[in-house]
Amino acid sequence: MVFLKPPSPKLSLLFALLFLLGLASRAGSVGVNWGTMSTHRLPPETVVRMLLDNGFDKVKLFDADRAILCALAGTHIEVMVAVPNYMLATMCDAAAASDWVDDNVTAYVRPGGVNIRYVAVGNEPFLRTYHGAYSKFTLPALKNIQKALDDAGHGNKIKATVPFNADIYDSPRSNPVPSAGDFRPEIRDTTIRILDFLATNRSPFIINIYPFLSLYDDPHFPTQFAFFNDTNTPLIDGDAVYTNVFDANLDTLLWALNKSGYPDMRVIVGEVGWPTDGDARANVENARSFNQGLLSHAQSGEGTPIRRGRIDVYLFSLIDENAKTVEPGAFERHWGLFEYDGKAKYALDLMGRGENRGLVSARGVEYMRRRWCVLKAEAEELEGLEESVSYACERSDCTSLGYGSSCNGIGYRGNASYAFNMYYQVGNQEEGRCVFDGLGEVTEEDPTDETCRFPVMIVGDESAAAVGGGWLVLVVVGVVGVLLC
Ligand SMILES: *[C@@H]1O[C@H](CO)[C@@H](O)[C@H](O)[C@H]1NC(C)=O
Ligand SMILES: *[C@@H]1O[C@H](CO)[C@@H](O)[C@H](O)[C@H]1NC(C)=O
Ligand SMILES: *[C@@H]1O[C@H](CO)[C@@H](O)[C@H](O)[C@H]1NC(C)=O
Ligand SMILES: *[C@@H]1O[C@H](CO)[C@@H](O)[C@H](O)[C@H]1NC(C)=O
Repeated sequence: MVFLKPPSPKLSLLFALLFLLGLASRAGSVGVNWGTMSTHRLPPETVVRMLLDNGFDKVKLFDADRAILCALAGTHIEVMVAVPNYMLATMCDAAAASDWVDDNVTAYVRPGGVNIRYVAVGNEPFLRTYHGAYSKFTLPALKNIQKALDDAGHGNKIKATVPFNADIYDSPRSNPVPSAGDFRPEIRDTTIRILDFLATNRSPFIINIYPFLSLYDDPHFPTQFAFFNDTNTPLIDGDAVYTNVFDANLDTLLWALNKSGYPDMRVIVGEVGWPTDGDARANVENARSFNQGLLSHAQSGEGTPIRRGRIDVYLFSLIDENAKTVEPGAFERHWGLFEYDGKAKYALDLMGRGENRGLVSARGVEYMRRRWCVLKAEAEELEGLEESVSYACERSDCTSLGYGSSCNGIGYRGNASYAFNMYYQVGNQEEGRCVFDGLGEVTEEDPTDETCRFPVMIVGDESAAAVGGGWLVLVVVGVVGVLLC
């Protein structure tokens, strides 16, 4: 009868816990892109703590920043490091690729080191707007990096691949359905040779998909089709029914892969997300709705009409980056789930468990003094103000002022104050950054209102500077080599 005895309460509690943990680890897999194009960065340790607090278990980087990799060391987080586009030509030299791998992979791969799983070779190198600048370097660089990984003994665990933008494929205007999809003619041959290499090497194909841009670029795009909550206006493609552009886009790729002879290629969505400012359709509600819809869909296992199963995604992006180019649009600096200071923008159930749980903001963030630079209240003679505002905006970030943005509608004087403050904060609140021909003044009264936040800058991370950081601790390990953190 011993075998039928129910487990002791303590044991059953343990089993329940293990069961829950098991569920948690299975449900909770979501990646995020960590970009660093900001004037002031949070310390990497703070960001890594934030990743862990929120349960992100995969992170995609755009280079191989030492301070960031050191902060990730010792965590279970899967890391994708990257060779930036400007290095692709160099990587066509096998010795340079080997040096890159020594420096930026091997140095961190050891027990207690960094869990590097992928090397992204370039970032959207076939983007239309690059006019083929990287087309001939991408495949040789990819091969050399993988060869260097193999030679260093990482080949089974660390795969080189290339994140592409979804503009490498499309369907003809005359038949705009996924099944008509194929790669752009001028890059089709190169892409197929890359596919061949990825398949041989068992590396995944990485694609970045942006429903927000479908909406932004095309005034006739049906808004609801960008989201995941509407089934009224489906796109019909043979037996397949599409209720959102994300699936339609992903399946266009799957059809293109199929036609190229790679129907089973593993696909990872390397970037997908929605911005919160800088355009009328870039707001917190839409971003939350899109990202929540996406996560629930990706984790549900329902897949797309062409391919069932979970969809691997890396959200774009972690933190707002105030130094990104605004060439694509003012929204470009507002893709973050978190603001520049690590403050969560909205509630999001990352694990798809149906909890309306908030994201966890960064902890222990250090700010500069609580003070702002604004247009003098008594300033009446506003001559030269416009020039001052332009000057301030060009050297900081006024992307929240435009039509449909969070600070649009604060008026002429409000605009000036906003611009003055951004210039002042980006300039570390230096006295000389609040002059503006005598029109600026420093105040300790927060001008922030319900919708428009006047930021106080964070204390920038010193380790982001190339010299003088205290983080570089060189530990010589016998004759084996040098560890970098
Ligand atoms: C390693 O990566 C860093 C950061 O991306 C880069 O500056 C450096 O040149 C790389 N090392 C080599 C040997 O290419
Ligand atoms: C993929 O290609 C195969 C062989 O050409 C074909 O039989 C199949 O229907 C295709 N499936 C999809 C979903 O594209
Ligand atoms: C879907 O979500 C969007 C964005 O939040 C919202 O504007 C729209 O009204 C929703 N549609 C439906 C049918 O619920
Ligand atoms: C404030 O600046 C924004 C962005 O330049 C502009 O669209 C808006 O019209 C300005 N408001 C006033 C009252 O000048």
